[in-house]
Amino acid sequence: MIHVSGLEKFFQGKRVLHGLNVDIPRGSALGIIGGSGSGKTTLMRCINGLSRFEQGRVRCGDIDLLPTLSEKDYKKRLQSLRRQVGMVFQHLYLFPHKTALQNVIEAPLYVANISRDQAIAEGERWLERFGIAHTAHRRPDALSGGEQQRVAIIRALMMKPKILFLDEPTSALDPKRSSDVREIFNEFVRQGSTLVLVTHSIRFLRGLADQILYMESGEVVESGAAEQVLDAPKDPRTRAFLEYA
Ligand SMILES: Nc1ncnc2c1ncn2[C@@H]1O[C@H](COP(=O)(O)OP(=O)(O)OP(=O)(O)O)[C@@H](O)[C@H]1O
Ligand SMILES: [Mg+2]
Repeated sequence: MIHVSGLEKFFQGKRVLHGLNVDIPRGSALGIIGGSGSGKTTLMRCINGLSRFEQGRVRCGDIDLLPTLSEKDYKKRLQSLRRQVGMVFQHLYLFPHKTALQNVIEAPLYVANISRDQAIAEGERWLERFGIAHTAHRRPDALSGGEQQRVAIIRALMMKPKILFLDEPTSALDPKRSSDVREIFNEFVRQGSTLVLVTHSIRFLRGLADQILYMESGEVVESGAAEQVLDAPKDPRTRAFLEYA
């Protein structure tokens, strides 16, 4: 469960999020859409604790984030939050000197209570499932963009997060692979986990997102059930945006 109220975020005195309210029930998928620079990544970073904010409150899982927390308290809460949430960034940040398989087993080996053999078996299973078993022993620079994206997604899934944040996770994937990944995300949500997804691909959101939030200049223009927002948007600005989708 995620609950955001009155969220305001400033960069160098300039307000980039204008009092946002967002609710994401457990076991559901939210798709965040909007033009470049509208604040999608910033919103996601405030919810998952990567960016502090100036006003409002965020409840993510069972952790409350508030602007009034001291740096020390904030860090402490962040540590608990990290155990519950996973993230795939717009820029993937794979470890460049490790192979695909090493990339995906790294965190579980050090953080979770799992043996090396178990982690390898699980990592190999995921690589197979995502259709990139052949990349297991190659480094990221020898992988295509779409293969790298799938390694980054697997790395997040390996930690079995309750909440998964994804920023443009499939921008480099072809339609068939994209649809395979969507099926894996659907399974993830059906198992009771929560997905928050930023994407420019409306097609990817269909059949995955339960709710859609459309942003413009740091404000929520429209939010609601996916079919409603995508197929019968109420606000003329949402309609105009979707005309290009
Ligand atoms: N670290 C930063 N310092 C200053 N301004 C920033 C910073 N990060 C983002 N911004 C500004 O905040 C606004 C929102 O940026 P954000 O990255 O959230 O947009 P976005 O919706 O994710 O865009 P895109 O679709 O291009 O990824 C933009 O105007 C951006 O220039
Ligand atoms: Mg972004």
